[in-house]
Amino acid sequence: MSAQIINGKQISDTIREEIKNEVAALREKGVRPGLAVVLVGEDPASQVYVRNKAKACEDLGFYSEVHRLPAETSQADLLALIERLNGQADINGILVQLPLPKHIEEKAVIDAISVAKDVDGFHPISVGNLMIGDDSLLPCTPAGVIELLKRTGNSPAGKKAVVIGRSNIVGKPVSLLLLRENATVTIAHSRTPNLPEVVREADIVVAAVGVPKLVKKDWIKPGAVVVDVGINRLDTGKLCGDVDYDEVAEVAGWITPVPGGVGPMTITMLMANTLKAAKTAHG
Ligand code: GUN
Repeated sequence: MSAQIINGKQISDTIREEIKNEVAALREKGVRPGLAVVLVGEDPASQVYVRNKAKACEDLGFYSEVHRLPAETSQADLLALIERLNGQADINGILVQLPLPKHIEEKAVIDAISVAKDVDGFHPISVGNLMIGDDSLLPCTPAGVIELLKRTGNSPAGKKAVVIGRSNIVGKPVSLLLLRENATVTIAHSRTPNLPEVVREADIVVAAVGVPKLVKKDWIKPGAVVVDVGINRLDTGKLCGDVDYDEVAEVAGWITPVPGGVGPMTITMLMANTLKAAKTAHG
């Protein structure tokens, strides 16, 4: 048996079309979603991400502002910019690209972003809302994982899900979202005994640990859905996930490739969040 591939690029394109249509309808009412992206310093990977976000805004008809600040920008100046963007009516979403230079305290910056414009879903109030199940802007990659599952007919309801990894950005929030979708959720991590055995119980496996090809064929219950959030660069320069794709694809029912699985969903969910924030702001 060979797994069906979860085509993240295709699903992401479908969602982008849906967003485009909504943006066109909003424009009739004089509303245009706006996203501000803030980049401090010149980290090459961050520059690529920021360019891709600006491009997505352009493609989908959003207003966008990119603020490129020098690496030596003071925390006070960055906070002043965020304060200004919080008050700007044409901006519905604010994303400060991470990581920040060492002299800037990440938490102070995230805390300063208006919750209504927190399209990353990183603000402690957004995290709290996710925890108690209140409506809020959801972190993009975890929300993307849930979309991939639902749009391939793999609803988490009633399933056993094992999440490998407990980061604040992916592991913890994706676990809460799976729980909200009525899965029975286990969060496994580097200190979990008998990890392969734990994972073998799962109908849905979400790997988000950052260890190349960690998850092997004999960890997977035949027919399980395997979602790989890992993006690791091998010495050869090739990208690979946290799942040993070639061998796991022989036993899984469904699997996300890397690249082309979860990756394309992240920016698309950022756009969906910005659209949602714009709709909320305009009643
Ligand atoms: N850097 C890498 N991924 C992300 C992300 O999802 N949001 C932000 N703000 N910075 C990042």
